[in-house]
Amino acid sequence: MPEEPGKETRFLDNVEMGLGAWSWGDRIFWHYGHGYTDDDIAAAFQTSLAAGVNLVDTAEIYGSGRSEHLLGQFIKAANQPVIVATKFFPIPYRFTKNSVVRALRGSLARLGLERVDLYQLHWPSPVVSIETYVEGLAMAVQAGLTLNVGVSNYSIEQMERASKILAKHAIPLASNQVEYHLLDRSAERSGLLERCKEKCVRLIAYSPLAMGLLTGKYTSETPPTGPRGRKYATILKNLPFLIALMKEIGAGHGEKTPGQVALNWVICKGGLPIPGAKTAAQAQQNAGAIGWRLMPEEMQALDAASDKIT
Ligand SMILES: NC(=O)c1ccc[n+]([C@@H]2O[C@H](COP(=O)([O-])OP(=O)(O)OC[C@H]3O[C@@H](n4cnc5c(N)ncnc54)[C@H](OP(=O)(O)O)[C@@H]3O)[C@@H](O)[C@H]2O)c1
Repeated sequence: MPEEPGKETRFLDNVEMGLGAWSWGDRIFWHYGHGYTDDDIAAAFQTSLAAGVNLVDTAEIYGSGRSEHLLGQFIKAANQPVIVATKFFPIPYRFTKNSVVRALRGSLARLGLERVDLYQLHWPSPVVSIETYVEGLAMAVQAGLTLNVGVSNYSIEQMERASKILAKHAIPLASNQVEYHLLDRSAERSGLLERCKEKCVRLIAYSPLAMGLLTGKYTSETPPTGPRGRKYATILKNLPFLIALMKEIGAGHGEKTPGQVALNWVICKGGLPIPGAKTAAQAQQNAGAIGWRLMPEEMQALDAASDKIT
């Protein structure tokens, strides 16, 4: 990416896409152990790396640590650098900045690493101030436990506060990870995406496939089971209209699938998508979303279709 005059280059600028690791070990939401195994997950990781996707996003709460543990094993077996991003969860008994550093040490032990590339605050806490936890992030950088820091699910105002606190320590805020995809464009509508661009904060887009819906494999007749089915029950009825357009647009780019179009849409908007993958086949297909770009008129058509159905 050529550097614009006056704009700094930050560490995630040249990362087009990552791999989400929430489903690796999560039995409650993703039914880990039913329909996919540790071998499938390992294959998803290896396939992603081979396809040039080497940022993996995990969190201490994913599978109660299982996701970090699996990722650590995969990294050990891989002979390639991996960009590791993990997250601190604001569990109610964590009141101090030191708790951030302690939690990160726990993540590092599970990952088998001395430091991560990106440590993120998973959610703002309803009880502990932004200042407290962000000071903890600064301590983690100073202790050499993470190279960069970010936040997640932070509003514009919360992100500005985090950024100001870090600036006192001469640490840039690297990222804000929020839900962003064709069925949820609140990050765009609130101005968060634009603000991130202005501040050189990378917007990491989570659930970029709307939890699998944007691949087109679920319909109102065959909805996903569990919480996903409930969350998207209404939207599933109108989804075929958008999926049909994505198929038509994808066909003009060498038979790209709706999922690949959905991920490329996020990239074209300036977000960094981190689709989850449970298997090599899913990882392979998702990796086909990088290395090309939708045309401006296709972006407009997708925006209009998403406006119509959401
Ligand atoms: N910061 C936060 O609060 C937060 C919240 C949510 C997620 N995240 C992060 O974002 C990542 C991605 O989000 P997500 O996992 O919620 O949703 P997603 O990436 O939109 O969807 C992932 C799911 O879609 C299905 N899928 C993926 N690729 C597919 C393909 N090529 N073909 C068919 N189905 C495919 C798989 O589930 P099925 O096979 O079961 O359909 C997969 O688990 C997470 O792993 C996590 O790292 C962060």
